[in-house]
Amino acid sequence: MSQTTLVIGGTKGLGYELAKHFTQTGPVIVTGRTEPVHQEGISWVRHDLNDTTSVQALVSDLPKIDTLVIAAGYLQSGELAKLSAEEVVTMVTVGLTAPTLILRALLAKQEYLPGLLTITSTSQWTPRRNEPVYTAIKGGIEMLSYSLSKDPAVGRVLVAAPSGMKTEFWSGVGNDVSEFLEPGFVSETIYKDWTENTENKFREIGILRQPTRIEIRKVD
Ligand SMILES: NC(=O)c1ccc[n+]([C@@H]2O[C@H](COP(=O)([O-])OP(=O)(O)OC[C@H]3O[C@@H](n4cnc5c(N)ncnc54)[C@H](OP(=O)(O)O)[C@@H]3O)[C@@H](O)[C@H]2O)c1
Repeated sequence: MSQTTLVIGGTKGLGYELAKHFTQTGPVIVTGRTEPVHQEGISWVRHDLNDTTSVQALVSDLPKIDTLVIAAGYLQSGELAKLSAEEVVTMVTVGLTAPTLILRALLAKQEYLPGLLTITSTSQWTPRRNEPVYTAIKGGIEMLSYSLSKDPAVGRVLVAAPSGMKTEFWSGVGNDVSEFLEPGFVSETIYKDWTENTENKFREIGILRQPTRIEIRKVD
């Protein structure tokens, strides 16, 4: 039976790679601010997560969603006092508030969400002096996802936390990403885990590098 997937932050990078995998099960809708490269089976809805007033309209226009993938994110570097108040609020809005509001509206609308796949980062487990708000939103959305796995309105939940990947996430930073993971490999690993481990209400995995490996961190 055809299943519909919504990928929040699916216009490029890991979210786009995951979107391509999910076309195997049915139509995929990706959201983001920029139009993705055309791909059969994927449609794009322009949406800026920093505009929380648009969440209700976004969700109202959606068909029934079988799997929600939350993949949006961006890099923010700087000790807390060096970030502007606006930068702090934007990171929390894009990384936690808007995804939470989308989940809330979706659950209110369709009463049951069979699958939730949340992309965090190894930053959800690792304190980082220069990424205090980023680590906070990743830790926060992990706990939101874990809590929702206890809600009968949600079918099953996978939290996937990758290490550094070669994506536009790092554009303009000038760091060496040559040893980072390929997003195609990470998406394949996550999709395999998602399709092969359907028995648990909650799973949490890390996709790590040096050496490249998969760690199962939580099963519930
Ligand atoms: N790359 C890494 O090293 C790394 C490591 C660990 C975890 N992660 C996490 O992996 C996920 C995917 O990142 P990526 O590496 O694939 O980065 P990416 O290539 O830059 O993709 C980020 C995605 O997030 C969307 N996004 C960002 N800000 C948004 C906003 N204000 N409104 C709507 N969409 C927004 C982007 O869409 P638009 O630009 O079209 O709006 C894009 O689809 C993120 O959650 C990131 O935190 C990345």
